[in-house]
Amino acid sequence: MPATYKALENQDGDEELLHQRPKHNRYSLVIFAIGFLISSIAISLLVLIFVPSPAGSLSIVTHCGDSAHEATRRGCHFDIMSFSWLPPRCFDEELTHSFDAIQPWEWFSDLEGTQPVSREEVLRGEADALFVSFEYHRAHCTSMWKKLHRAIGNNGYIDSYIGNYNHTVHCEKMLLTTSEQKATLDTRIFRKFPTCNEKTVYF
Ligand SMILES: *[C@@H]1O[C@H](CO)[C@@H](O)[C@H](O)[C@H]1NC(C)=O
Repeated sequence: MPATYKALENQDGDEELLHQRPKHNRYSLVIFAIGFLISSIAISLLVLIFVPSPAGSLSIVTHCGDSAHEATRRGCHFDIMSFSWLPPRCFDEELTHSFDAIQPWEWFSDLEGTQPVSREEVLRGEADALFVSFEYHRAHCTSMWKKLHRAIGNNGYIDSYIGNYNHTVHCEKMLLTTSEQKATLDTRIFRKFPTCNEKTVYF
């Protein structure tokens, strides 16, 4: 009994195998095509995500990386008002000119002000932090408010540094609590790499 059953099963199996062979090949082809398509899409996505495109390409830069070299490669600008590397859409060149016009700004690598850093060197955006005057700090704060306002009226792109409400609160506190003009370099300004997104603020 078990032997007969086995024989029949074998027969059925062979028959099935014969009938299905061409069908099976067609399925393989379809599966291969789908696999190929999915792999192609996956590879394209990986390339888009991980291979940084050169400056000036169609891709939109929202972040400048974490070094001056990388930021330059991505077409970013170093902003002296905020000491930030900014993607083009978050860089307000016109406002930078008016910040520059307030006074000839100075930067130092020491608190005592014995080691000045040239403007050219500052613009390279390689220093992690520099010392600036109280006046610089004040002008920085008012410029950031102007920049935020201008961004809303211009292209709507706001960097995550000025988009952070804490920064606005910090500037309010700084401006309201320090009335007398300080002659010292009381401000240490740190380099930042904010993100640049449309109409985005953080609380
Ligand atoms: C702002 O400051 C508060 C208090 O220090 C903190 O909890 C919050 O995360 C800060 N917000 C942002 C967007 O950094």
